[in-house]
Amino acid sequence: MSHPDVFNNPLLTFPEAEKSPLSIRAKALVFIDPRSRQLREEMEQLAPLELPVLIRGEPGTGKELLARHIHRGSDRSGLFVSVNCGAISPTYADAELFGHAAGAYAGSASSRAGWFGSATGGTLYLDEIADLPLSIQTKLLAALENREVTRVGASQPSPVDVRLVAATSIDLRLAVAAGKFHERLYRYLSEGRLDLPALREQPGNILPLAEYFLGIYSQRLDFPMPLISDAAQRVLEAHYWPGNTRELENVIHFALLVSSGAQVLPEHLNLPQR
Ligand SMILES: Nc1ncnc2c1ncn2[C@@H]1O[C@H](COP(=O)(O)OP(=O)(O)OP(=O)(O)O)[C@@H](O)[C@H]1O
Ligand SMILES: [Mg+2]
Repeated sequence: MSHPDVFNNPLLTFPEAEKSPLSIRAKALVFIDPRSRQLREEMEQLAPLELPVLIRGEPGTGKELLARHIHRGSDRSGLFVSVNCGAISPTYADAELFGHAAGAYAGSASSRAGWFGSATGGTLYLDEIADLPLSIQTKLLAALENREVTRVGASQPSPVDVRLVAATSIDLRLAVAAGKFHERLYRYLSEGRLDLPALREQPGNILPLAEYFLGIYSQRLDFPMPLISDAAQRVLEAHYWPGNTRELENVIHFALLVSSGAQVLPEHLNLPQR
């Protein structure tokens, strides 16, 4: 009924996870299904290389977790800086990414490094990279190719040493074909590619991940860890998981809160029953 194996070999843990301020999400990666084992190998090959990496995957498939793991495996001592491109205001995207000189804007008495500068020596993670305005995409490509950026309002470029990991939930080739994404930037980014399958495409991960989240949340909430009943396992395995691993995590967290302790039953799952 349970999968004790989950806590052994196929789990990659982050050594300093307990000390780090990262949320629970960065603690480990569960790779059980053959497809994700292969992905893990690809990731481990790419991590120590200086290549940029483009991660493609549906929402909730673990793109950011994978990017953090690539940073871990890279030996780069700088920070992992995570930026959601959809959340950057187009007006200030330039300054936000590349920084600005003192006095570049009314009221900006001091200079700012920008996300690029903050990631120097480390890894810059750009989530939903297709959301960047085209003009910024051009500047990003120049910064990566020339290894220097010119801050807004600065007269001289400054050197940067940043490894880029970008993520997208859409097919960037379609965006290129539609004139919405810079073709050379796409080619530059896709030197290292990782395609994250949807959870429904790696059904072998569903129960191990469910057990894993059950373990994490019961520890965090100081609850005894319940077992997942056979019927509940079948419901989990039959679900389509449009929200992927993030959805599974939420379903398990909820189940733990509403189950009485010993067993997770189908009615605790808050999922459509067949
Ligand atoms: N292989 C895995 N092992 C353990 N936990 C995982 C795994 N994949 C994803 N998760 C968990 O699933 C959640 C979603 O992961 P993450 O935020 O990395 O996904 P994402 O693809 O960046 O999502 P979004 O598109 O919503 O930004 C996180 O809580 C993460 O810990
Ligand atoms: Mg994300």
